[in-house]
Amino acid sequence: MTINSKHSLPPEHLLACPNCYAGVNEGLNINEHTCAHCESSFFHLDGVPCWFDCGQDQKIVWEHHLAVTQQKAEQNTQAMLQATQSPFTLKSSDTRIKNMQKASEQSANAVSKILQDSGLTPKMHDMLPPEDAGLFANYFELMHRDWGWHNNTSEKFEDENIKQFELLKSITQNTFKDSKIGHVLVIGGGAGRLAYEFHQFFNPQSTTVLDINPLLVQSAHQVIHNHKEIQLDEVRKYPQTEVDPSFSRTLKLPAEHKACENLFFMVADAYNAPFKQQQFDLIITPWFVDVVGVDIKKTMGVIHSLLKPDAHWINFGPLLYLDSMEFNYKYHQKEILELLNCLDMNLIDQKSEVMPYSLSPDDQRQRLEQIWCFSAQISNQSFETLSNQTFKNAKDVDLPKWALFTHLPIPAYNMAQQSHPVLQSIVEQIDGQTSADEVALMLEGKLPNHLNPSEVVCTLILDNILNAENQ
Ligand SMILES: C[S@@+](CC[C@H](N)C(=O)[O-])C[C@H]1O[C@@H](n2cnc3c(N)ncnc32)[C@H](O)[C@@H]1O
Repeated sequence: MTINSKHSLPPEHLLACPNCYAGVNEGLNINEHTCAHCESSFFHLDGVPCWFDCGQDQKIVWEHHLAVTQQKAEQNTQAMLQATQSPFTLKSSDTRIKNMQKASEQSANAVSKILQDSGLTPKMHDMLPPEDAGLFANYFELMHRDWGWHNNTSEKFEDENIKQFELLKSITQNTFKDSKIGHVLVIGGGAGRLAYEFHQFFNPQSTTVLDINPLLVQSAHQVIHNHKEIQLDEVRKYPQTEVDPSFSRTLKLPAEHKACENLFFMVADAYNAPFKQQQFDLIITPWFVDVVGVDIKKTMGVIHSLLKPDAHWINFGPLLYLDSMEFNYKYHQKEILELLNCLDMNLIDQKSEVMPYSLSPDDQRQRLEQIWCFSAQISNQSFETLSNQTFKNAKDVDLPKWALFTHLPIPAYNMAQQSHPVLQSIVEQIDGQTSADEVALMLEGKLPNHLNPSEVVCTLILDNILNAENQ
């Protein structure tokens, strides 16, 4: 399906198929959302490209999620109304429950409308489990924070979006001085306000905002590009004295909005990002590297691969790792700085500030978080050069950097014949250009869950090299 919206597609030289990484000269057709090279086809929602390596299957999953969301909302309504039927329900409880029911129903209808207006149709698919529709509930509050709260007129209210942007602005200004910023990628942009403020203020050549959640991206796209006003009730999770249990909000652009050319949205997975390597001048990761549940070394590999030589990375946010993350991946600031150094990324500026997080103007609960913002510049060393360098591990042993950063190519070592065919096919791929991440693709689904395939590949190759050296 061809789309014509001027807000739809980032500059074509940035784009690649998320499945085979072909660019526009190699089979990717950005207007048709197809890739002739690997015969994939993608889709868009109201002009926003939704490019996943699984192609159209992603749409089926979201259609199912939307149908499940609607079904759950209906069940929730029935349960609330049922509760009011009890002979022991007080009048004040009856009023509260009915108000909550109306607000929850309004929120569910608003979510459906945002997604259905963008072209997503709710549809149960029998082959998919009747799971809960977690995806659309994740970070739901960000839509209110980004586009709803700024309408508040109370003198006491401080817009945390603006406070956060001030910190990002100061690091960016110290990093770029007066030079014009080129092509920017914001990874995990959520409902988009920080990226929007950044784009409005710095006016880079282009800003592409990528997130995996279609609801958050659509809310941003519809508010910014379609100038829509979206009614979305905010429901208090816990009762607070003298505070209404729900508030009616209008999500809309701030009054001081300027025309927003060259700000693009994409729904995609950062770990199969639909971009050509080494094309971006700046990558910003706001509140992303910790919550994504991936080893930060892998995230740094994605960033390093997408940035041009000498380009910049700005990270922004706390280190609130998921409980489920393994202990050795819950890096402290010092370890992240050491990792930057290992990847030859030069720290340019850093600041930490404690700020309110997700503090609704009508809320009596407060959450404060420490935001650490740093900027770093990558070097112009080739990936091959970096690969051959070493780092010292905790036991003071020098190991090659390709084993730490598994996106780097493994040098073409002479490898011994392996006894097992799977091991043999792994060592056969070591040609000086292939990384452990690429080799590890062949192990997907074949290893116990607790094993990291890239680490398994690195261990095997390192063992081989050490054995060869000791013989
Ligand atoms: C803590 S939220 C931060 C959102 C936004 N940056 C902000 O500051 O409000 C993390 C965001 O990362 C997104 N995300 C999680 N995994 C992702 C992935 N694999 N690829 C792209 N985005 C992802 C989530 O959908 C969510 O919007």
